This record gives sequence, structure tokens and C-alpha cells, in this order.
Amino acid sequence: MNSCVIGLQWGDEGKGKVVDILAENSDIIVRYGGGANAGHTVIVGDERFALHILPSGSVRPDKTCVITSAVVVDPEVLIKGIETLGEKNIPLTGRLLISENAHVVLDYHKQEDRLREEALGKNKIGTTARGIGPCYADKVGRSYAVRVGDFRDLDSLKAKLRNIVEYKNKLFDALYGAEPIIVDDIFEKCTAYAGAITPFITDTTEFLHDSIAQGKSILFEGAQGSLLDIDHGTFPFVTSSNSSPLGMPSGSGVPAKMVEKFVGVAKAYSTRVGAGPFPSEQDNDIGQYIRDKGHEYGTTTGRPRRCGWFDAVAVSYSVTIGAIDSIALMHLDTLAGLKELNVCRAYKIEGEERTFFPANTTRLAKAEPIYETLGGWDEDITAVRDFNDLPANARDYVCRLEELTKTPITMIGIGPKRDQIISR
Ligand code: GDP
Ligand code: IMO
Ligand code: MG
Repeated sequence: MNSCVIGLQWGDEGKGKVVDILAENSDIIVRYGGGANAGHTVIVGDERFALHILPSGSVRPDKTCVITSAVVVDPEVLIKGIETLGEKNIPLTGRLLISENAHVVLDYHKQEDRLREEALGKNKIGTTARGIGPCYADKVGRSYAVRVGDFRDLDSLKAKLRNIVEYKNKLFDALYGAEPIIVDDIFEKCTAYAGAITPFITDTTEFLHDSIAQGKSILFEGAQGSLLDIDHGTFPFVTSSNSSPLGMPSGSGVPAKMVEKFVGVAKAYSTRVGAGPFPSEQDNDIGQYIRDKGHEYGTTTGRPRRCGWFDAVAVSYSVTIGAIDSIALMHLDTLAGLKELNVCRAYKIEGEERTFFPANTTRLAKAEPIYETLGGWDEDITAVRDFNDLPANARDYVCRLEELTKTPITMIGIGPKRDQIISR
């Protein structure tokens, strides 16, 4: 059976942990979108891993890991990830495959990301500054792109880089008065990257289809969240890829109908990093309580995450566009200690009640959340392993979210560790 794990909110839902758990019964784990903007946490025993490009299944030494063509690969981050796992005796040799067609994030992409955000000032998107937007822009623009397969032929790559850097220097100077980029510096780094990465380069589409024909079980690992999708999220406060489940087929080359199960991951509340509308945000003591208790600081950038109540309108939208089969509800433990819990069940927009999420920033900015209030609990639930042993109010909370999202909640996170999960 093939399955796909996907974020239903604005990222950081706990996908890394869910992928780690489901990877036990999968042969191959696939990252098919985004880049080093992602930060997926996996905790194994006392060891904490923050994975940015490598699939979360890579911490399991017997699993094959694949990075497909729609991932934008930052070689520096990738190589560091491979080295870190190597130092912990989890080598990737012979079990990591990287698409020859994946686009490469280079220093000038990260520079452009920073320069543009600085120039935007208060209108900035609040990106992760990992060069994601500029790299995807070069991909779509086609003429100035570098792909992983280019590392196989350094002479051609050198000529290509000369052309690209000449163009970027004109652009950065005119727009930002930036210092020129030295092409030899970029090429020198690329030569080192090529040595480290070339052994892993292959045709990942062929590999995945061969594996499916052999009956192997594949787990697709979504990055970011559905509401950050470039076409279906809260544009322009989104990432530059199709981070909803709709991006899985195009990102991997495997049709969605070959994937039997789409597992959506949501937190028992909401968080968002960066700018953009967030109707159920609690920019107050409640938000701060959740931030402190849930350690809501970015895995990639360390930024404090904005926190708010669970938004059933937003999650139901992600469930709908993703044909989500079941939900993994994470961080239920974090809500302990709050007397009452609000859940956003609808929006009021210009006097009208709506339950279909408007994926349009102008309309969404006008949305006033309509809440229903449920009872909280004080008990520490991090040691509970059976749903029936949860406090009654915690069970009622989960059941009400199931009703509102019309989707079974089959996994419940009650702590960051691998075994802190309740299966239903
Ligand atoms: P991802 O990007 O979706 O993989 O999520 P991140 O790793 O960026 O952020 C999720 C954070 O929550 C990490 O620090 C996890 O260790 C932690 N986490 C995951 N599930 C739970 C849970 O059920 N309870 C608590 N308290 N922490 C969790
Ligand atoms: P994971 O996979 C949370 C957000 C950024 C910013 C917007 C655009 O860990 O869930 P970008 O650098 O992609 O151009 O930034 O998207 N963002 C994420 N937020 N989790 C992520 O990944 C994110 N990846 C991008 O904060 O608002
Ligand atoms: Mg994350």
C-alpha cells in the first residue's frame, strides 16, 4: 500500500513524527516538494533530528529515501544532513536517490530571497530566507536554472554559471545595488557539491514505478502545509510550490490514484510562521500559553510561531482539496491547563456565515471566526496510550473535531516522542 502524509494547516503540524511512525511499515520514503524551508522533527530515544531535505524516513537505516524532481535541493543543507546522519552511524550510502531533474538552490537564490524581503519592508512575506522562491522562479523561467544532473558535467556547468551570474549581477545591482557575485566562488562550491552528490543522482520516476511494480510500499512525505500551496493557499503569503496533496502526483511522477491513503496532519490548535491572514490567531495570553507549552518556535528559522485556536473551516478545506482519508491530530497534550477551548466552526464574512474557506487573502482578511466553546482539562496526558483513558473533555474535543472536519482522527499526538501516540 502507498500512502501520503500531508500538512493540513500552515506547516509544522508534526509531519516528521507521523512519517517516522508510518515509515516503519514502508519500504521507500519520498520527499516530493519544497526544499530546505522545511524542518521536520523526528525524535528517536534521546536523539532529536531536524530534517530539512532528507525524508524523515532516513533516520531508519533500512529504508530507501528518494528526493524527486520537484524538490529544490540546497546542496549545502543536503550534504550537511547526510554527514550528520553518517556521524550518528546512520549512513545513506546505497539508499538515497536524488532526481537528476531536481533544481538546485545556490547562494544567489538565498541572497535574492533576503534582498527582496528587505526591500519589501513591512510588506514582506516572512520567508525562511532559504532561496525557495527565487529557485522556483528560475525553474519556471527556464533560462537560468541549474539542475542536479548538471553536476555530472562540470565543464558545461561552468559555462552555464557564467551566463547565470552575469544576468544575476546586472539584476541585483540595478534593483538592490548589491555587491557582485563571483562566479568562480560559486563554481568552486559546485565542484565540491558534485563530488558529494553525484553518487546519488538517478531517474527517480523510473525507480518509483519499478518499485511499485515490484509491490514495494511507498510513503510520500509532504512538506509545508496545504494552506501554503502556491495555487490553493493564502497567496501571496504562501510558499512557491504545490504543498497541498495536489502537488504529490506532479511532484513525484506517481499518479494520485496509485496512492491508497492520504493522511492529513493537523495540530489540535493552529500555528503559522511568517505573514498572512490567520483568522483564529490569539495574539494574547492564550497564544503565548500555547507557544510556551508547545515549544512553538520554528525548526528551521527559530522564529516564534503565531498561535491560535483550531480552525475547522481551514482544516476542512484542506481535507476537501486533498481527499484526505484520515487525520493525525498532534499536540493534544499542549492544550492541557486551558479552562475552555474555542474551535472555529465558521466564518462571518461581510455579514454572511460561511463554512467554505476562502483561499483569497482579501476575502480571508475580512473573516471573523465564529467559535464554539468546549471544556478543557488539567491532566497531563503525555503517558496515556489508550483513547478511553483520556479525560472526558479531551475525548469530546477530539470527537467534535472529527464531526466538524467529517474525517476520522486515527492518530493522536500526546508528546514529541516516537511512542507518544494514541492509535484509534
Ligand atoms: P513538521 O514540519 O510538520 O514536521 O513539524 P515540526 O517538526 O516543524 O514541528 C512540530 C514540533 O512539535 C516538533 O518540535 C515536534 O517534536 C513536536 N511534536 C510533534 N508531535 C507532537 C505532540 O503530539 N505533542 C508535542 N508536545 N509535541 C509534538
Ligand atoms: P514544514 O515542512 C512552516 C512559510 C514561511 C513563509 C512562507 C514562505 O516544516 O512544515 P518560503 O521560505 O517557503 O518562501 O516561505 O511559507 N513556510 C513554512 N512554515 N513550516 C514549513 O515547512 C514552511 N515552509 C515555508 O514561514 O511564511
Ligand atoms: Mg516544520
